[in-house]
Amino acid sequence: MLIRHATLPDGRTDIDLLVQDGRIAAVGPQLPAPEGMEVVDAQGCLLSPPFVDAHFHMDATLSYGLPRVNRSGTLLEGIALWGELKPLLTQEALVERALAYCDWAVAKGLLAIRSHVDVCDERLLAVEALLHVKERVKPYLDLQLVAFPQDGVLRSPNALSHLERALDMGVDVVGGIPHFERTMADGAESVRLLCEIAAARGLRVDMHCDETDDPMSRHIETLAFHAQRLKLHGRVNGSHLTSMHSMDNYYVSKLIPLMAEAGVSAVANPLINITIQGRHDTYPKRRGMTRVPELMAAGIDVAFGHDCVMDPWYSLGSGDMLEVASMGLHVAQMTSQDGMKACFDAVTVNPARILGLEGYGLEVGCRADFVLLQSRSPVEALRLRAHRLLVVRGGRVLARSQPLHTELCLPGRSTGLDFTRPISR
Ligand code: FE2
Repeated sequence: MLIRHATLPDGRTDIDLLVQDGRIAAVGPQLPAPEGMEVVDAQGCLLSPPFVDAHFHMDATLSYGLPRVNRSGTLLEGIALWGELKPLLTQEALVERALAYCDWAVAKGLLAIRSHVDVCDERLLAVEALLHVKERVKPYLDLQLVAFPQDGVLRSPNALSHLERALDMGVDVVGGIPHFERTMADGAESVRLLCEIAAARGLRVDMHCDETDDPMSRHIETLAFHAQRLKLHGRVNGSHLTSMHSMDNYYVSKLIPLMAEAGVSAVANPLINITIQGRHDTYPKRRGMTRVPELMAAGIDVAFGHDCVMDPWYSLGSGDMLEVASMGLHVAQMTSQDGMKACFDAVTVNPARILGLEGYGLEVGCRADFVLLQSRSPVEALRLRAHRLLVVRGGRVLARSQPLHTELCLPGRSTGLDFTRPISR
């Protein structure tokens, strides 16, 4: 396959990209087309590496309304509701919902997902189901699984042994939820324990950490400490970190450099944070999202995750990482040109680094995974939640759609409408 006349996320225009044997063989202007090769004219549209979601819950997705909806909208009612649903889950339903979501993801150009999977269940039903799904989708989507003790690795009976069993079965990453343990001390102890398990097994760590409005929830400090102590540099991620929104500025001025020093990355989940946090506030209501621009300025890898789609915590969503990035951009007020580009990176290259994806990118030698967007730049892609024209993995087309086009039929003004066209005077 040869893609002609593409715009790349770094701003280069009129670039061709040659795919051979599933890899990117050449990138540059006016490449010669080998005999018999399929040629796609991008017509100046943006060719991006695929979207990556660094934080998701595929065991709960598409279960909205089962067995009821979350009335308060809080994290804690969501956890209780999930607890009601868990005994009713079947392997078949879990697999069916997860596969349906993966179809949505592919259509949106989302080709790598890190999903937490609840291990606080004697049967490990969701673990079995998602390991099965991981194999099923392997030809077209990278699914990385995190052993997530939703009810607390210390608080929930036998959760530690369930978590270790899940890792033995092939789950990739060690998860945790220190702010949900019974005490701050137990939370800190859970972080130590889980980091040591990861170090012993040579695994990465991704913890739900401080998903609360309580500014005194400081488990991220403990996570950075153990990442440093156990030499897990670049292998540990703190998800949510919403308490940082409410922390004292002086304390944060010490905390962020400690995270940077320990090589701890961060994932904010803007759609969910803006929905779930601040629920106990009157007015003003806090936004709750962690300090994304400040973390980025310190050189920390920051990604935006989707977290939830139609589940006990969130009733909306469609696997569109541009919607996620757009919400992140607004909540963080990252409206400068550089800020918006950084938000595009937060759903592409940054999460790819956090997941440790190999061969990701548009350089020669990378796997030929990319998405062609009906827009002329990353900023325009965010503005329009750009339509996905072509989704390719390993040089194989996974999804293709016609450009969006609307004919306006207005009195005295019949015209085709193009939202990407700049207004010139
Ligand atoms: Fe989560």
